[in-house]
Amino acid sequence: MWTQDSLQQLVRDQLSDYLFVVVSNREPYIHNHVNDKIECIVPASGLTVALDPVMRACGGTWVAHGSGTADREVVDARNRVLVPPDTQNYTLRRVWLTENEVDKYYFGFSNETLWPLCHIVYQRPEFNVDDWNTYKYVNRLFADAVLDEIGGRKAFVFIQDYHLTLLSRMLKAKNHRIISAQFWHIPWPNREAFRICPWQNEILYGLLGNDLLGFHIAYHRNNFLDTVDRTLECRIDYERFSVSHADHTTFVSPFPISVDFDRISENVQKPEVEQEMTALKKKYGLSNEIVGIGLDRIDYTKGIPERLKAVDLLLTRYPKYKKKLVFFQLAEPSRIKIKKYQDLNDEIDNLVEQINSKHQTTDWKPITYIKEHKSPVTLRAFNRMARFCIVSSLHDGMNLVAKEFVSSRVDETGVLILSRFAGAARELDEALLINPYAVDEIAETIYTAIEMPVELQKKRMLRLRHKVCENNIYRWAADIITELVKIESI
Ligand code: G6P
Repeated sequence: MWTQDSLQQLVRDQLSDYLFVVVSNREPYIHNHVNDKIECIVPASGLTVALDPVMRACGGTWVAHGSGTADREVVDARNRVLVPPDTQNYTLRRVWLTENEVDKYYFGFSNETLWPLCHIVYQRPEFNVDDWNTYKYVNRLFADAVLDEIGGRKAFVFIQDYHLTLLSRMLKAKNHRIISAQFWHIPWPNREAFRICPWQNEILYGLLGNDLLGFHIAYHRNNFLDTVDRTLECRIDYERFSVSHADHTTFVSPFPISVDFDRISENVQKPEVEQEMTALKKKYGLSNEIVGIGLDRIDYTKGIPERLKAVDLLLTRYPKYKKKLVFFQLAEPSRIKIKKYQDLNDEIDNLVEQINSKHQTTDWKPITYIKEHKSPVTLRAFNRMARFCIVSSLHDGMNLVAKEFVSSRVDETGVLILSRFAGAARELDEALLINPYAVDEIAETIYTAIEMPVELQKKRMLRLRHKVCENNIYRWAADIITELVKIESI
């Protein structure tokens, strides 16, 4: 079983000569001005939730975009701040971007091109050469910050995600003592989908600057190899899963990402969570109602309208649940400058209003929609109060909301309803699996979840907990480090 301590030991034993540097677009802690005060928040991002415990264990430096309104005020002269605020285990080095750079690199190329390109949810990607040029330029800015942190020493740079596909080659061109791994947190689509990208060669070439490339599941790894095979002149070794291209070999493997099971299980039992549960019950007038939850960023890949329509159908088909069921949709606004996200926001607002006005009574409404950032304590309280949690992603790399729900269920009850099209479904097959496009199927599955006897809930939940406990985030990081060390010694 991998723990924070055993991961720490592995890093000490295997990487002692190397500086450990994580790079991502999103930062793990954001400082914002709130009513004359500076508040530090944890963003709603699967990536940062997963990597923060790894950094707490390993120490080192995390380089990321400083996006908070008070971020500049808390850093030192080298743009660094120690985080987490309470324990200060590692350094966060912030990269500053102009509004124009954020518009084109983050909203534009990352989220209007690569995001819809890789998620098969029938949203057409935009291909804008100006966005692409800014994306390249911003990758260079990140490279400069990382190189500055490393200062010519030996380093293991662990790059995250689709915002930084060009980084590894930029780093290695300046410092050949760098080894790098990159983890792709979203799906990799099939090659027919990817080949429409006019800059596919540059992106693939950029990614193949890494020594190790990780995907959540073997299916995404295979899609990637297939894409490379059809696009670049290269040699692919299907025995070792490696790609040799332009004098460099990259190993490509699946590493299913996870959460800090032990820490979540411990945190959900803290008195502040109990108090929050009591406060929420009072606030929303809950006594013995059946509570369902959905916890998401507002994103068109998450299947939020589909699950709300399923709640509507369930109440129409089984009116016995009226006044008995309350579905809480907690949704954090995300990427709001993008039109498709604004449209989705409006669609969800309208749906909630329609469904509530169709079913509500004087003292009950079926859907409570909470559209704001919520603290980890509130999220933990909802995870504990729920009878069922719906993760209905239309396509998702892994989905850590599912694994957090399972880790939170210390009483071993509760039902996870999980999309077949989320990477997590490969591992968590004791969940009730759904096709998120089939509203009827989701409605019937909610029915099954509500009616499931406690013994059966426990039987399934225990198995799920066992899996998440064993395949925790420390194991994910340890597997990547072990693989990288193996590659380095070949
Ligand atoms: C996905 C991506 C992450 C990203 C997260 C939140 O999980 O894979 O890289 O951190 O979405 O998105 P945001 O755009 O807010 O960082």
